[in-house]
Amino acid sequence: AGTEAVLPEGEGVRRRDFINIAAVSAAGVGGVITLLPLVSQMAPSADVLAESSTEIDVSAIAPGQAIKGMFRKQPVFIRNLTPAEVEAANKVDVASLRDPETLKQRTKEGKENWLITMGVCTHLGCVPLGAGEGEVKGEFGGYFCPCHGSSYDTAARIRKGPAPKNLQVPEYAFTSDTIVKIG
Ligand code: FES
Repeated sequence: AGTEAVLPEGEGVRRRDFINIAAVSAAGVGGVITLLPLVSQMAPSADVLAESSTEIDVSAIAPGQAIKGMFRKQPVFIRNLTPAEVEAANKVDVASLRDPETLKQRTKEGKENWLITMGVCTHLGCVPLGAGEGEVKGEFGGYFCPCHGSSYDTAARIRKGPAPKNLQVPEYAFTSDTIVKIG
C-alpha cells in the first residue's frame, strides 16, 4: 500500500490493471480460446461490419409469409404483409407504444407491405419466431420471442414482454421490384 500511495494518480490504477492482466494470462490459453467466440458474438468485428451488402430475391414470398435471411452474420426477417396485417399495424395508437413508430416509418414508400427487420430480439438477442412456416407469431400477429416472451406486432414493434425496442430495421433498398439490397 505504501508504494501505491506515492505514485501520481492513475499510475496505481495502471499498475493494478497490469497485475489483473497478468492474472488473466496466467489462467492459461484454454481460457482465452473459450472466451474468444463469445466476444466475437457480442461485438461484430470490423470485418463483419464491413461485409458487403446482401441481396435477397423476394419474389417467392407470398402475402402473409416471411423468410429468414442472413445479414452480417445475423438473421434478418423479410415479411410480405397481407392487407389485413397492414391495416392492423396502422390501427394501433402509436402514442401508446413503448417504442413509438408508424408502419410507414418502418417501411419504404409504396412498399408498405414489405417489412424488413433484423431477426434479433431487442431484449437479450434471441431469434424470435414467426418467420418460418408454421412458427408461432404471438398474440400481436408479428413475431414472438420464446426466450422471455416478448411479442412483436405486424410492424415488428414491441407490444408485450421485456424487450425495450422494436425489431431493428436495417438499411435497405429495393433495387428492382423483386430484389432487396440490405446494407
Ligand atoms: Fe427475447 Fe428475452 S431475448 S424476450
